[in-house]
Amino acid sequence: MQPGPCSKVSTPMHIRNILVTNALPFANGPIHLGHMLGYIQADIWVRFQRMQGHTVHYVCADDTHGTAIMLSAEKVGISPEQFIEGVRLEHHRDFQRFLVDFDIYHSTHSEENRELATDIYLRIRTAGKIAMRKISQLFDPERGLFLADRFIKGQCPKCKAEDQYGDNCEVCASTYAATDLINPRSTISGAAPVLKDSEHYFFKLPDFADMLKEWTRSGVLAVSVANKLSEWLQSGLQEWDISRDAPYFGFEIPGAPGKYFYVWLDAPIGYMASFRKLCAEKGLDFGAYWNEGASTELWHFIGKDIVNFHALFWPAMLEIAGYRKPTQISVNGFLTVNSQKMSKSRGTFIMADTYFRHLNPEYLRYYFAAKLGQNPDDLDLNFEDFTLRVNADLVGKVVNIASRCAGFINKNFDGMLSATDSQPVLTAEFQRAAAEIAEHYDAREYGKAMRQIMALADKANAWIAEKQPWAVSKTAPQSKEVQDICSVGINLFRLLMIYLKPVLPQMAQQVEAFLQVPALHWAQASTTLGSHRIGTFIPLMTRVDPASITAMLDASKSSLAVPVPAEVALLSPLAKEPIAAEIEFPDFAKVDLRVVKILHAEHVEGADKLLKLTLDLGADDKGQTVQRTVFSGIKSAYQPQDLIGKHTVLVANLKARKMKFGWSEGMILAAGDGKDIFLIAPHEGAVPGTRVT
Ligand code: 2FM
Ligand code: ZN
Repeated sequence: MQPGPCSKVSTPMHIRNILVTNALPFANGPIHLGHMLGYIQADIWVRFQRMQGHTVHYVCADDTHGTAIMLSAEKVGISPEQFIEGVRLEHHRDFQRFLVDFDIYHSTHSEENRELATDIYLRIRTAGKIAMRKISQLFDPERGLFLADRFIKGQCPKCKAEDQYGDNCEVCASTYAATDLINPRSTISGAAPVLKDSEHYFFKLPDFADMLKEWTRSGVLAVSVANKLSEWLQSGLQEWDISRDAPYFGFEIPGAPGKYFYVWLDAPIGYMASFRKLCAEKGLDFGAYWNEGASTELWHFIGKDIVNFHALFWPAMLEIAGYRKPTQISVNGFLTVNSQKMSKSRGTFIMADTYFRHLNPEYLRYYFAAKLGQNPDDLDLNFEDFTLRVNADLVGKVVNIASRCAGFINKNFDGMLSATDSQPVLTAEFQRAAAEIAEHYDAREYGKAMRQIMALADKANAWIAEKQPWAVSKTAPQSKEVQDICSVGINLFRLLMIYLKPVLPQMAQQVEAFLQVPALHWAQASTTLGSHRIGTFIPLMTRVDPASITAMLDASKSSLAVPVPAEVALLSPLAKEPIAAEIEFPDFAKVDLRVVKILHAEHVEGADKLLKLTLDLGADDKGQTVQRTVFSGIKSAYQPQDLIGKHTVLVANLKARKMKFGWSEGMILAAGDGKDIFLIAPHEGAVPGTRVT
């Protein structure tokens, strides 16, 4: 690698130590694209900071407590613990699929959280900030539990519309108390609720009003968010009810049998609990990130609907319990789809799982990045715009640079790039952009960063078009001129991929393999590759297929019509399918497993589940490449074009089977539970024909 024209002697960098959290999703339903917006936003920031060389710990967990979760578990006939573990695994799987790279994905129903919540509550109580008093609430006499507003329905006291929830009317938009509803009913049992007294515990939030007025204006929040909070602060804070009566799934309040912490009391403490577990696993210093006066940074990424919990209750709790307050609360807006609220009937209430079955998550990461800024504005996912942007920017501009240049370098120069840069001025312009793009990422102005990167991509393409390596190559294929032009192109492409890596980590990894370079870091933007051999160009990203979008929207509609039975969806794979009877080693050794490369994949007409694969099994003892044709039931999980070039594992000595569509010569391995399918892949570097033992 060579220092670029603009490289300077670098000054020692200040290493930031940052703890980043994302809002903990409720363990009561699947992750949808609206959720994903905030997680992708945070993940991009984390990846960017790590590329800068900063230390970032990125934690999350499922938010598992409350009546709704307790009732959902009961409905499917499993314990709340089993229920939340099933959901946690699904949520974590969805985040991993969208390349959200948490260091830990824990649960608020953990020992760490029980200990921390108990301790923090006791500190608050000792400081005299807990009040107790009786309140009267609606109670379901049949089920024997107090009813939150969303578990009560009745006639609106204003417009008399039927079937309205206990807090507001969807017809006339009036708000009221559940006790004002006409003819109220419990949505759980159908019984008429009765008023019942019970003692509740309150956090004395008004005592923190002055501190909060100052803190919310100290730069920890976007100005628009601080303005919204000011309205609440001016109109006066209320004491916060932090207890719920049994039966409730949560942690019992110390010294108060039958009383539980309200889910929102222990939810943010879940950030600390997840980090505490990570500290135990990695030997990190918990106090360095949470003690009062800590010099590290604490960043919370949340949605705009939960600002009051994070910017009022949470800092007050932290202060009185002797902990540090957040450095920054980054707030994202809501996601709309095709300019409207996500809608189940229109098929635009898209689950992460449904999206993943049809489209590449990096498309969405790029689309979100292209439209995200630091303010909590709503973001519209418009599928026409999505298709255009991804195809034009990523495939048409960025990947195009490499695909135009790599072939000549591979074919005519045995993969070798020119030793010296023939366009140092152009290269320097691309390198200088690193600083401004970095500022945009750091400020969470990803839209600005993407625009700048795409403007550079346009410049690179225009320059290549002007130099026409394809024309020069016709007359002088092995000339220095062709090598120089294409080397510049590859180097510019490499710089763009450094800048895009926080958004497109998977594509960046493929690029690292193609360029035969170690993991790309930001600082490497001041270098070029120089005399270096690159690998064979591999297609890095395919165009968005509008048919896949239609299929995804259809699937989103139909997934509502045929709900997956919750018992099946939620239990862990091992619980659903226990380990089979023990076998001896010789039984296993009879199975000849081999690494294969997928040369070709295609749909099979008339087959719902099958893809037809052509596999490369390596060379035999005469040097002849051995190929196999296999029909595999993986169509629901993979697009044929995404499989080409991938390695997997073949049961090579399985007797060929005649199927309706032809002979299947073996079987490839995939993990699956009838719902999800994951092709088994060897670690990078394994070559076709290698035995798997
Ligand atoms: O709104 C939600 O989905 C909450 N479960 C977020 C909790 S964030 C933190 F406080 F745990
Ligand atoms: Zn009404």
